[in-house]
Amino acid sequence: MSNTDRLFLAGVIGWPVSHSRSPLMHNYWMKQNKCIGLYLPLAVQPCGLATALSALKPLGFTGCNVTIPHKQMTLKIVDKIDETASTIGAISCITLQKDGSLLGTNNDWYGFMANLKQEHPDWRANAGPAVVIGAGGASRAVCYGLMHEGVEEIRLVNRTYAKADTLAKQFGKSIKPLPWKMRHQALEDVTIVINTTNQGMVGELPLDISLDHLPNSAIAADIIYVPLETPFLTAAKHRGNRTLNGIGMLLHQGIPAWKQWFSIEPVVTPELKEMMESSLIKI
Ligand code: ATR
Repeated sequence: MSNTDRLFLAGVIGWPVSHSRSPLMHNYWMKQNKCIGLYLPLAVQPCGLATALSALKPLGFTGCNVTIPHKQMTLKIVDKIDETASTIGAISCITLQKDGSLLGTNNDWYGFMANLKQEHPDWRANAGPAVVIGAGGASRAVCYGLMHEGVEEIRLVNRTYAKADTLAKQFGKSIKPLPWKMRHQALEDVTIVINTTNQGMVGELPLDISLDHLPNSAIAADIIYVPLETPFLTAAKHRGNRTLNGIGMLLHQGIPAWKQWFSIEPVVTPELKEMMESSLIKI
């Protein structure tokens, strides 16, 4: 069957969701792959999540992405959870199975790693430790990705130490939890530091960290994409470090979703990246 013989229907479920840039990107891929279809923003309140998910099949959806605040709640609703989503403790993508059941997975870790490898192809997992700041859902996906890639030491600093400690106990000995006050010194000898907290996001304070100990060769990464350059990334850039913003993570996590839904591998083209970035500059 050619891509013009079927309807490709997917979307993103969140609350609120009107700010999401996912429809822009997925609908670009619809066009790029000559698919007749649509990717919709689905504004669903937490109290309506189960009903909305059960409507995906009768409405003809192939699958959907799941975003804030539904990523954890979805674990309790879908019929099957793969090992990745179960380890990360959050679902970012649902695929309708042939029998109509819902399979939940998590592609955020892939998005982070694929973006890192595309933007900084010389980065090597075995070249030294990494620092991850924050221990929430996004941190779990990033830590999973780094471990999957073979990083042997991940220094995990979080404002609430107990959360970092819990994550370390679950993920294993590669994760070294550190108290919040150690966040500055933790940057010594690392190849990469990743901010997974909300600090630096529009409307939030900048991340409170000194970069004095960060090696010049290290990459500073942020998973935030509003703004595209957080104060943390600006500070890193000014002292000569290479940086990585969060938009590429969003773009790349869409690739496995398309493979799961439509058996098509879409491409993150420079044109797509530019389109997404310029849509954010307008904010
Ligand atoms: P997400 O799913 O997007 O990761 P989350 O699970 O709410 O969101 O996690 C938010 C992260 O940002 C947490 O690590 C949080 O630290 P705590 O565990 O101490 O709450 C971190 N964070 C939020 N506000 C912060 C602040 N003002 N300073 C430092 N870290 C902060």
